[in-house]
Amino acid sequence: MIYPLFDISGKTVLITGSTRGIGFELARGFGKAGARVIINGTNENNLKKALSILSNEGIEAYGTLFDVTDRLQIEEQVNYIKGNIGIVDILVNNAGVQIRAPLENFNLSDWEKIISVNLTGVFLVSQCFVKDMIERKAGKIINICSLQSELGRPTIAPYAASKGGVKMLTKAMAAEWAKFNIQVNGIGPGYFITDMTRKLADDEKFDSWIKNRTPAGRWGDVKELVGAAIFLASDASSFINGQVLYVDGGLSSVI
Ligand SMILES: NC(=O)c1ccc[n+]([C@@H]2O[C@H](COP(=O)([O-])OP(=O)(O)OC[C@H]3O[C@@H](n4cnc5c(N)ncnc54)[C@H](OP(=O)(O)O)[C@@H]3O)[C@@H](O)[C@H]2O)c1
Repeated sequence: MIYPLFDISGKTVLITGSTRGIGFELARGFGKAGARVIINGTNENNLKKALSILSNEGIEAYGTLFDVTDRLQIEEQVNYIKGNIGIVDILVNNAGVQIRAPLENFNLSDWEKIISVNLTGVFLVSQCFVKDMIERKAGKIINICSLQSELGRPTIAPYAASKGGVKMLTKAMAAEWAKFNIQVNGIGPGYFITDMTRKLADDEKFDSWIKNRTPAGRWGDVKELVGAAIFLASDASSFINGQVLYVDGGLSSVI
């Protein structure tokens, strides 16, 4: 039996960027907890593959193809989802990209891509889905931040700037929307092996640096983000607003 405070069964959850990696595992976790999940990405093949895995596991899953940087595409999907699946109770802004290069040579178009997917995307998708939450006076928004919302590291300055922005956007959204009984919070993952970080994990020097630097002594497993997400999506977090919960094996707590 699920303890009622953490019960999200029957809720409709949309997770952006959930055809792979962290977003996919969050979708699976929400699905196993009884929610109806809507997954998203920009690549149709990946979306179909992810949907079939979730459906085969008995999860009520739907797919929506849109780019989080494209307002028209998002608005179209808001209407489609509302008419065909239902109103989104829980929105997880997870879509993100990473491009690594020394800052002095960082290309402007790469900078713009990172800021537009990681930061502007959170603004656009939230703005489009929050209206129904405001009307209903209920909703949950979870923004996927990063350890880089707090800490820099060479070669990832634009990413750190975008994730610092997502942390502050989370607080600013909470400031405006908490009065509508919408809780907006963030999750700050430490280092998890996905397509985004595989190159780092394959680099022996980086891998041993991360393991030594992390009090838990290892990389995180994407499944370990599910508990924090369910907590922030459930009634258990009904008076928590504008916080970022770091799930990082203790990395952000030590120097
Ligand atoms: N991995 C880590 O250690 C780590 C640590 C801290 C924070 N994070 C954050 O966690 C989130 C997920 O990261 P991940 O490691 O799971 O990345 P990933 O494996 O590279 O997956 C990224 C997902 O985002 C989607 N996506 C990319 N651009 C998009 C766009 N413009 N519109 C819609 N969807 C888009 C991709 O789908 P398509 O290819 O179909 O577009 C894919 O499903 C990101 O925000 C990342 O910054 C990750």
